[in-house]
Amino acid sequence: MQIEITPKAPGEIEADIEIICLIDKKFDHDWVEDKELLELSGFKAEQDATIFLPEKRRLYTASDSLQHDDIRSAFAAAIRAIRKTPAKHVKTGLYLGKCPPQNIKAMVEGMVFGDYDFDLYKTEKAKHPIKKVTISTIDFNAKRVEIEKVKKYVETANIVATATNYTKNLVNTPPDDMTPEILALKGVSLAEENGLECTILDEKGLEGENMNAFLAVSRASQHPPRLIHLAYKPQNPKFKIALVGKGLTYDSGGLSLKPAEFMVTMKSDKAGACAVFGIMKAVSELKLPIEVHGIVGATENMIGSNAYKPDDVLRAKNGKTIEIRNTDAEGRLVLADSLCYAQEKVAPDYLIDFATLTGACVVALGEYTIGIMGHNRALKHSISKAAAHAGELTGTLKFNRYLKKLIKSEIADVCNISSSRYGGAITAALFLDHFIQEEYKQKWLHLDIAGPAYVEKAWGYNPAGASGAGVRMTIKWFEQIIKKEK
Ligand code: BES
Ligand code: ZN
Ligand code: ZN
Repeated sequence: MQIEITPKAPGEIEADIEIICLIDKKFDHDWVEDKELLELSGFKAEQDATIFLPEKRRLYTASDSLQHDDIRSAFAAAIRAIRKTPAKHVKTGLYLGKCPPQNIKAMVEGMVFGDYDFDLYKTEKAKHPIKKVTISTIDFNAKRVEIEKVKKYVETANIVATATNYTKNLVNTPPDDMTPEILALKGVSLAEENGLECTILDEKGLEGENMNAFLAVSRASQHPPRLIHLAYKPQNPKFKIALVGKGLTYDSGGLSLKPAEFMVTMKSDKAGACAVFGIMKAVSELKLPIEVHGIVGATENMIGSNAYKPDDVLRAKNGKTIEIRNTDAEGRLVLADSLCYAQEKVAPDYLIDFATLTGACVVALGEYTIGIMGHNRALKHSISKAAAHAGELTGTLKFNRYLKKLIKSEIADVCNISSSRYGGAITAALFLDHFIQEEYKQKWLHLDIAGPAYVEKAWGYNPAGASGAGVRMTIKWFEQIIKKEK
């Protein structure tokens, strides 16, 4: 879907369909030409409701407010509705609120999201593709915005939304078509296309780095593990950032096997890794003045006679020993070694990990919200603010010393599960904390994306399946720390 900008009024643009967005269930404005028709049809203008008036070539969509996330949703709904018609060229004006850049970006993101469909495995592609969207720089209140500015916002939003859709595609791909080796090849192509450095470690490489916790998880899989290290290095970067992603291309639970109904959707256990890929794609296309490293631990967690087992004791890269009591708590083992690797190789100013780490985080916050954990209050606050701006939901879960005691082990330095059935999202993060060196404690953030990364039912502008959770908020946070530095 190509997006172009014009200073012409919507009425002067040649296109198949015009999108008109009704705000706050009202259609008695002079700019709503079809007021009578809409009333006659009984259209209620509830958030995300749409009505197509073919004889007028207008598609009405509805937003409860001019708030950016409502607008994002209304435009996604509009595009989804238009894809049911044969229209190829769509036009729209702007719908600006208090913060014009935010609404312009929300409109574009909504349209790019509404255009997303994972139909790779469908023999019949149901929907009609939209070729072009033309956006007028005139808004519904007849406010004008400088065309150069609109162009910049549209371009940024298009890059971020397209990178988010790229993450969705990776996550949605079935496990046998997205093995650790294939994910590594995806990393290689991303690096080639976007001018990134790319280093890949195979089993020998992981052994050489003493990443024995990671290797134990991978042992029973017929697909060998890969550590994928991408780096975007512009000149004179303002910060150096390391992003670490959990890349379980399949999580069967291992010998502590998951019940059948919990195993379905576990192709999504690579969503942290895929979010890191999407962020690397976006930062390099936006040419942000920060050095960003994306480090992904990719493996399957399977069963077999050589599987790692409950009662095993593993030695992680930093020398700490881990008592295994449940092989389904595998993500933290892969992350432990990958976090050590990131600190040693990158020495970053900020260290952020992305992981579908615990079902407990979904219980705590619900399916739509990312769990934020870490030691640095200001850092947690700034990322949650960025998330809200970007249209992602977050909740902060706080550490405490009582929970910290629950992962003590009788025979090793730490246990891979808690002795309590409660507080599992936080005890998982406190396990990771054992692998964060003193000088990085205040620089580290853990994002548990187990809820929103993959939801089986569509929600708002997010389709059923992967949502690309973590991509938009991280790019927004980058933009904010860069601005503060200036
Ligand atoms: N990948 C899962 C967590 C998960 C659950 C992600 C649901 C997405 C949706 C993780 O590896 C896991 O199995 N965690 C266990 C930990 C437990 C054994 C301490 C869990 O959450 O039950
Ligand atoms: Zn697991
Ligand atoms: Zn897992």
